[in-house]
Amino acid sequence: MLKGIILAGGHGKRLYPITKVMSKQLLPIYNKPMIYYPLSTLMLSGIRDILIISTPKDINNYELLLGDGSDLGIKISYKIQDKPNGLAEAFIIGEKFIGNDDVCLVLGDNIFYGKDLPKILKSASNELVENNESIIFGYNVKDPERYGVVSFDSKLEVKSIDEKPSKPKSNIAVVGLYFFKNDVINFAKQCIPSSRGELEITHIHNQYLDQKRLNIKILDSIFWLDTGTHDALAEASSFIKTVESREGKRVSCLEEIAYKYKYIDKNKLEKIISKSLDDDALYLKQLIS
Ligand code: TTP
Repeated sequence: MLKGIILAGGHGKRLYPITKVMSKQLLPIYNKPMIYYPLSTLMLSGIRDILIISTPKDINNYELLLGDGSDLGIKISYKIQDKPNGLAEAFIIGEKFIGNDDVCLVLGDNIFYGKDLPKILKSASNELVENNESIIFGYNVKDPERYGVVSFDSKLEVKSIDEKPSKPKSNIAVVGLYFFKNDVINFAKQCIPSSRGELEITHIHNQYLDQKRLNIKILDSIFWLDTGTHDALAEASSFIKTVESREGKRVSCLEEIAYKYKYIDKNKLEKIISKSLDDDALYLKQLIS
């Protein structure tokens, strides 16, 4: 089985003063809280057992928002990260939750959208469970120095992943969505804090790379939006608004995914509809008819 983790803590310093008292991943992206988007990514991957990790100050708000997940036919549990000690700490905090399973980690501020997305996610989930390789995704960006960057050798084979390099060796950034084999827990435990004091996920990627067990897939048919800065936050909201109003459908509508993926049945969706506001009710009703 495959479990899912959403990492929704961090400092959010680039979004100050908004995130001085508010958790970044609860901020609105157009018409829904940011965390709905990574949650939809996990649900579209076929994952129904999900751990949300956030700060001691914010964790209760996530629980108030999403509860135990039963309304969506999934199971959500919660854990605290005391300090933003780095992305790799998710696997140490989540060790008991992961148990003997493989795990998909998605960062709480990463949004993925596109027609091919469900297919890409489902095949990554299947490949992960069937093979002994972990899977990460690369995306062509104009500002790679902000991310983990894939560096290639002269034969175009992946040589290493470099964390926020001052001189990036390519434009391929590693996105915040990772499908890891269960031994990621051991690799995370072997991490030592980097010069910026974090347990770096790139350390884990390089361990898999050394063992020739890292599959890097390039995402070129979908959009990847990162929401960490004021500009990126505003752009993400207007992107979602544009897609929804042009196409007349909802992006990352959790109830829709739950129904289409048979996590909830028609009765449950009808109950949700009866409690929904007019617009939402109308949209969800169309799914049934
Ligand atoms: P970052 O964008 O690296 O950091 P941040 O969100 O704290 O923002 P800033 O740089 O503006 O201070 O984090 C990526 C995502 O991972 C984001 O959703 C926050 C989350 N995160 C944690 O939950 N715990 C951590 O220890 C770190 C480093 C990040």
